Amino acid sequence: MPPPVISVSHLGKSYGSTVAVDDVCLEIHKGEIFGLIGPNGAGKTTTMECVEGLRKADRGTISVLGLDPRRDLAALQHRIGVQHQEAQLQKRIKVWEAIDLWSSLYPRVVDTEVLLARLGLEEKRNAKFMTLSGGQKQRLFIALAMIHDPEVLFLDELTTGLDPQARHAIWGLVKGIRERGKTVFLTTHLMEEAERLCDRVAIIDHGRLVEVGTPAELVERHCPERRVVFTSEGTDAAERLAGVPAVRSVVSEGCTHTLRGEGDDFVTHVINLIAREGIQVKGFRTEVPTLEDVFLKLTGHGVRD
Ligand SMILES: Nc1ncnc2c1ncn2[C@@H]1O[C@H](COP(=O)(O)OP(=O)(O)OP(=O)(O)O)[C@@H](O)[C@H]1O
Ligand SMILES: [Mg+2]
Repeated sequence: MPPPVISVSHLGKSYGSTVAVDDVCLEIHKGEIFGLIGPNGAGKTTTMECVEGLRKADRGTISVLGLDPRRDLAALQHRIGVQHQEAQLQKRIKVWEAIDLWSSLYPRVVDTEVLLARLGLEEKRNAKFMTLSGGQKQRLFIALAMIHDPEVLFLDELTTGLDPQARHAIWGLVKGIRERGKTVFLTTHLMEEAERLCDRVAIIDHGRLVEVGTPAELVERHCPERRVVFTSEGTDAAERLAGVPAVRSVVSEGCTHTLRGEGDDFVTHVINLIAREGIQVKGFRTEVPTLEDVFLKLTGHGVRD
């Protein structure tokens, strides 16, 4: 296996008496979208900016593309692209002017026309920054972060404040970036975003890493329960399923029955049982736990608390 693109070992950083990051260890591999997820103040931006070389860690070691972000910052800046949380530009700067200005910072840049087209900004090339929508501003920041064709892209809270449509468009863009072989390190406090976009996630809370894995692994490991909810007018439907070993519990409210069990086969099992018992079903749905449930279970609170 090739060495990780980003390697963080025992990272620690405090601001006065506030411990922002506490003993964080991470490895991020080439071509993956890796998400650091956690609530406000969890230490995501601090961790990310230490990795980018923009903040100085108190403890630990960091390597990005084999470089030390503090010592080799100038070399690293040509190989990484950064989109900051709550970035701003001058209100009246035009899209093409911003692209031009950023291009002048690097010895080698991509074809900016291709970049603008890829990010759906061709028609906005003459628009002033202040007239762009939230999603367009974010796409411009991605464009600026990618102007020198970096190997690693850092995206801090990329879609916060965007509507679902703009968010989906940006997820598509980020997946396209991965398809071109880049590595993406992002932060988010949106569990749906992490689940849909990230190959692997790390959950951070109060500066400490709580878990690392693929979203599916974390759900399987911490919230293996599956639920089937069905409605049936037959009065004895629940009783007929209650004795089955795979069904851990049955709760009925009127005609609505909720069955709980574990494992990938559980839902198939219930469907077979319902068919075998000849139960008349009016409605049927399954409820599979999400990353949000994992987060709640591991941290004891919701991500927005
Ligand atoms: N420059 C700073 N000076 C003092 N304290 C800071 C500074 N930056 C961050 N902190 C504190 O460190 C902790 C972690 O902050 P950080 O910005 O890393 O969190 P975050 O996970 O990015 O949060 P958010 O989701 O709100 O962006 C918080 O308690 C914050 O108040
Ligand atoms: Mg932050």
